[in-house]
Amino acid sequence: MSVPIVRTLGELRSTVAGWRREGLKVGVVPTMGALHDGHLSLVRAALEQADRVIVTLFVNPKQFNNPADLAAYPRTEKEDAAKLSPVGAHMLYVPNAEEIYPEGFSTTVSVSGVSEGLCGAHRPGHFDGVATVVAKLFLQTGADLAFFGEKDFQQLHVVKRMARDLDIPITIVPCATVREADGLALSSRNVRLSPQDRAIAPKLAQALFAAVEKLRDGRLAKPVLDEAVKALEAVGFREVEYLELRAEDNLQPMDRLDRPARLLAAVFLGEVRLIDNVPARPS
Ligand code: PAJ
Repeated sequence: MSVPIVRTLGELRSTVAGWRREGLKVGVVPTMGALHDGHLSLVRAALEQADRVIVTLFVNPKQFNNPADLAAYPRTEKEDAAKLSPVGAHMLYVPNAEEIYPEGFSTTVSVSGVSEGLCGAHRPGHFDGVATVVAKLFLQTGADLAFFGEKDFQQLHVVKRMARDLDIPITIVPCATVREADGLALSSRNVRLSPQDRAIAPKLAQALFAAVEKLRDGRLAKPVLDEAVKALEAVGFREVEYLELRAEDNLQPMDRLDRPARLLAAVFLGEVRLIDNVPARPS
């Protein structure tokens, strides 16, 4: 059966109200489309924990600090709907732009603390855009559970903080990063890599896993990470925007691996910006 597509808030609300009358638990998977197996793993997790699953598809202009990146973002609604249907999602919500940002829209949801540093330092306004649209999607769907990928680890923290601070009654469920066989984290941006850059891309995840092994000796993080940045640049990454060790629970910077952490990176391959992160546990 093909997934029903809903484009208006009115229809979304009346469908969800019907589900609620039946006592069903509702899950939401927010996306910007160009769906791949990473997104689909979130949908499968949602289907395990909720009775009804809404996938949202909205390419959110407010979270793009770079207009060229927004223009180049893949838009593949038909293919996305075709991918979702066999998985069994119950609704694809593709809001018309005015359902999210009606004329006169003037509100920004801004999360401090966890949104600072890392991607927040390099993409001004990005997490305000994310927090604003995700707050709207939570309130519009009224879902009980929301599924987010650890691939965007800082985003996961921002969304958790936002929902907690605003008393939105929703449980955020983190889902592990899905990778290609060679280790490259799945991303809608991977299709923009040239064949040469696609061959270099998996070296990012390999470098992260290798650096974690070194950090597990309890050494100071800085020299280990400086060396990893040099190695990444040597194998063809144009720029390493950041490579940092942060605490798993609150994203505070860490000098050495003495408690559960994440090693997070953003790099450029040509014009394509890739992010990735891996868990790091002290031995
Ligand atoms: P998008 O990049 O489409 O990602 C949607 C969800 O899929 C996010 O929770 C993201 O972390 C998850 N995801 C992406 N790649 C993944 C992978 N390889 N493994 C597991 N999960 C993965 O993130 C956004 O959209 C937007 O910022 C959004 C939250 C929808 C707000 O506009």
